Amino acid sequence: MARLPIRPRRNRRSEAVRTLVRETALSPGDLICPLFVTDGGKAPVASMPGVFRLPRADAVKEAKEIQKLGIPAVALFPALAGSLKDPLAKESVNPKGLLQRTVRDLKEAVPDLCVITDVAMDPYSSDGHDGVVRDGRIVNDETLPILAAMAVSQAEAGADVVAPSDMMDGRVAAIRAALDERGFTEVGILAYSAKYASAFYGPFRDALDSAPKHGDKKTYQMDPANVREAIREVELDVAEGADVVMVKPALPYLDVVAAVRAAVNVPVAAYHVSGEYAMVKAAGQLGWLDAAAAMRESLVSIKRAGADMILTYAAREVAEAL
Ligand code: PBG
Repeated sequence: MARLPIRPRRNRRSEAVRTLVRETALSPGDLICPLFVTDGGKAPVASMPGVFRLPRADAVKEAKEIQKLGIPAVALFPALAGSLKDPLAKESVNPKGLLQRTVRDLKEAVPDLCVITDVAMDPYSSDGHDGVVRDGRIVNDETLPILAAMAVSQAEAGADVVAPSDMMDGRVAAIRAALDERGFTEVGILAYSAKYASAFYGPFRDALDSAPKHGDKKTYQMDPANVREAIREVELDVAEGADVVMVKPALPYLDVVAAVRAAVNVPVAAYHVSGEYAMVKAAGQLGWLDAAAAMRESLVSIKRAGADMILTYAAREVAEAL
């Protein structure tokens, strides 16, 4: 018998021991469930098995079930008809718009559920960009008042937290000022601070039909090669008043999640995006891996890296399994 006094395997020998030494606990309370809403009928998103565009009544039903599972929040994304899109995203401030109506319905039916709304032009923009397009360029400062007005409109509808996902410079400050001026001092800002120009957003853009009509998003979303720049973005957003900062995507950027966690004292969110979800589902459908186990492992890893909360399309199924 080998003389081997130190045996790390002793701490893995039974489920009971493994439970005692487990460093990271994933719970439904860590999860935020994105919901796609529509004024049309319920329709599956082809590239995201198990995910649907939901009519408002179905979204309310889903939200109730999600809350029963212990998930504290939903993040809403409206899928608008092309006829409602224009270069300045005017529909985004319509008090009777799809998003605003959905927020009101949710706050009435499930008042204790935290409702997070997306602040960005792309779902409403005929250009499919997150900022105003002028001569083929995305102009920063002209976009800020549009984002600020959008955030105020969402707060008026009852949003608890607004989440700017546009990556314009100075938008957190502009939104905070506009909200405060209108008395919405309690509405929080979850800033998509380190949002990368990622290929993993493809299925989301299918869901909202929001892909850019020309060019790409590289002049505003970050270069996947950079991490120091992420810290700079995060520090700016905290200084401008962000209550929570986010890294997006999640799994390919765990080093960024860890670096951001170490750099700031506000809570850190990570967005396990559409493409990350689709990859696991697709491989599962092919029988190439156990999708449920891989999904759960993905989320535990994101939490281990330092995320306090995770946006994930798998929120419901993982919460059910937990
Ligand atoms: C747009 C937005 C995107 C996502 C969330 N908000 C797509 C984009 O920037 O093109 C992607 C989320 C996902 O892929 O799950 N402002």
